[in-house]
Amino acid sequence: MPSTAGTPHAFALTEEQQLIRRTVRDFAEKHVRPIASEIDEEKRFPTENIKRLADLGLMGMLVPEEYGGSGADIVSYAITIEELSRACASHGVITSVNNSLCAWPIYNWGTEEQRETFLEPLCTGEGLGAYALSEPGAGSDPAGMTSTAIKEGDAYILNGQKNFITNGGHADTYIYFAKTDPDERHRGMSAFILDKDMDGFEWSEPEEKMGIRAAHSVQLFLDDVEVPEGRMLGEEGEGFKIAMQVLDGGRIGIGAQAVGIAQACLDASKEYASEREQFGQPISNFQAIQFKIADMAMRTEVARNQVYKAAAMKDAGEDVTQTASIAKLNASEASMENAIQAVQIHGGNGYTTDYPVERYMRDAKITEIYEGTSEIQRLVISREEFN
Ligand code: CAA
Repeated sequence: MPSTAGTPHAFALTEEQQLIRRTVRDFAEKHVRPIASEIDEEKRFPTENIKRLADLGLMGMLVPEEYGGSGADIVSYAITIEELSRACASHGVITSVNNSLCAWPIYNWGTEEQRETFLEPLCTGEGLGAYALSEPGAGSDPAGMTSTAIKEGDAYILNGQKNFITNGGHADTYIYFAKTDPDERHRGMSAFILDKDMDGFEWSEPEEKMGIRAAHSVQLFLDDVEVPEGRMLGEEGEGFKIAMQVLDGGRIGIGAQAVGIAQACLDASKEYASEREQFGQPISNFQAIQFKIADMAMRTEVARNQVYKAAAMKDAGEDVTQTASIAKLNASEASMENAIQAVQIHGGNGYTTDYPVERYMRDAKITEIYEGTSEIQRLVISREEFN
C-alpha cells in the first residue's frame, strides 16, 4: 500500500489557518499576555489593542474585503478568538462581539447603504461594535423584552433599557433590538443600527464583575431616540430570527473563547507541575497530577474539535443551531472544569493573584452564562432532538 504519510487528513487545518494561528499567537504573546493581569486588576478596557487587532485584519474577519474586512473563514475566526482568549479572555470577547454580533449581521442583513456606512469603521478599528439584546427583565427570554420602537413618520422612536452590553460605552455602533409591535412576543421584534451619538442615548458606568473585567459591560438607556427608518436591519418583525441566527454564530465564538481558557489552564498547570517540588520531586511525577493533566488535555481537545466542527459547518452554509449549542455548552463546561483543576494543581498558590489560574477560573465562569446559559443550550439541543 502506498504511504500516505504527510497527506492532510480531514481534520487538518489549511496552511492559511495554521498561519493565522501563528500570527495571532505571536500577537497575543507580544501585546496581550503582558497586560492581561494588569487590565483585569485595573478593570481597564484595552483601547490600545483595538487598532492593532484591526491592523492584523482581526476585527472584520467575517466581512468580505470589498467592505474593508479580511474575508476569513469561520474556522480561522474561531482559531483567532481561541488564541486571544488563551492569553486574555477579555480580548477574546471584545473581538468576538465586534466580529460576530455586530459586523456580521450588518453584512448579512444590511442594505448596501448600511454596509457601506457601518462596516469599514468596524473592520479598521476606527469604530467598535456592540449587540444590545438583554434587558434587566429579559435575559434568557429575549422575546419578553420591553424596549419599544414606535413608528412616527419616516422614523422610529426608541425607548427602553438594556443591560450587560459588552463593549458598551466604547462602541460606536449598536445592533439594538426593540418591539415594533409591543403586543406581540418574538414576532413583534425588530433590529436597528444605532450610533452612540444619537440624542437620548446614554449608558452607565461598567458593571463590577467577577471576571472578564477588562471587557466592559454596561447598561444602555434610550429615551425617545429618533432612529431613521433606514436604520432598521432586516425587515420589520424579523428581529428575533436575526437575534437567534446571530447567536448561532456568536456561540461558536464563545465556544472558541472557552477553548482558549481551557488551554491556558492546561499550559499553566503543566508548567507549574513540572517546577513545583514536594516530597523531593516535581509534583508532575505523581499520578494524581498526571491524571488531572490527562483529563484537562482531553477536555480541551474534544472541545476544540467540536468548536471547529461547528465553524466548518457554518463555513459550508449548513444549519448550526444545535452544533453551535453543543460546541458552546461543552467548551464552557470544559473550561470551567479545567480552571477548577488548574487551581487545585497550584494548591495555595493557585488561590492567589501571583498566578493567573484564579483569573482563568473567574473568566471561565462567564462562558457558561453569556450568549445563552448552559441551561438554554440544553434547551436548544433537546428541542432539536425532538424536532
Ligand atoms: N435560528 C432561526 N430561527 C430561530 C432560531 C434560530 N437559532 N431559534 C428560534 N428560531 C425561530 C423559531 O423557529 C420560531 O419561529 P416561528 O415564529 O416561525 O415559529 C421563533 O424563532 C421563536 O422560537 P421559539 O419559540 O423557540 O422562541 P422562544 O421564545 O421559546 O426562545 C430560546 C427560544 C432558545 C430560549 C431563545 O430565547 C434563546 O436563545 N434565549 C437565550 C438568549 C441569549 O442567548 N441571550 C444572550 C444575550 S447576548 C450576549 O450575551 C452577548 C454578550 O454579552 C457577549
